[in-house]
Amino acid sequence: MANKTGLFISFEGGEGAGKSTQIRLLADALRKQGRDVLVTREPGGSPGAEAVRHVLLSGAAEAFGTRMEAILFAAARNDHVEEIIRPALRQSKIVLCDRFMDSSRVYQGVTGNLEADFIEALQRIAVDGVVPDCTIILDLPATIGLERARRRSAATEISAEPDRFEKEEMQTHEKRREAFLDIAAGDPGRCHVVDALRAQDEISAEILAIASGRLQPAKGRAKFRPEIVR
Ligand code: TYD
Repeated sequence: MANKTGLFISFEGGEGAGKSTQIRLLADALRKQGRDVLVTREPGGSPGAEAVRHVLLSGAAEAFGTRMEAILFAAARNDHVEEIIRPALRQSKIVLCDRFMDSSRVYQGVTGNLEADFIEALQRIAVDGVVPDCTIILDLPATIGLERARRRSAATEISAEPDRFEKEEMQTHEKRREAFLDIAAGDPGRCHVVDALRAQDEISAEILAIASGRLQPAKGRAKFRPEIVR
């Protein structure tokens, strides 16, 4: 059982879709409203998961195969959920997470060629009931996303080298975009596809509207009073 009372929003999408900027803008807007917001990311987000992040993104686990990588992502996710996300939700916080379970479905499942059953079995153990209330999928063509990601790493100087997953072929990145859109189509109650080609403030306004919709009780339900016909 999740035992949660807060709101859990995950952000998904390909490289360079602007997830971290949009998460920051949403966190700022919600904090201005006096809400308690926790921003976190995957792989990582807790000390144990950050240790696994390094192994995964450096490519150190690549030689051991996609199955091994998927299990490591799940191990990291479980630590992150139990140490950080579930406690925050119990404290009624709004949790904004940069990538979560849909990234494993797409990167390890679809483009990593692992069976969906295997991925779903790992997910059940990893998240143990803590599923996002809402997932924002930032969508843009892979060519544009990769170009943006490359410019960003060149500018930050920390590492101009693409990570293990950024190195893959353009076709793979386009396949991931399709896979995120398929997930959204299959779970419309949870997922919102947001066009990430637009101006930053247009995107952030749409995301704030989506989040605000999740924070209010559904209109008309609580207050609904049947008309009395005499
Ligand atoms: P990160 O540096 O956080 O970049 P991004 O801005 O793209 O989120 O890198 C995370 C990488 O890990 C990214 O290429 C996607 C990949 N990943 C998976 O393959 N599976 C997963 O379950 C998660 C959470 C991430």
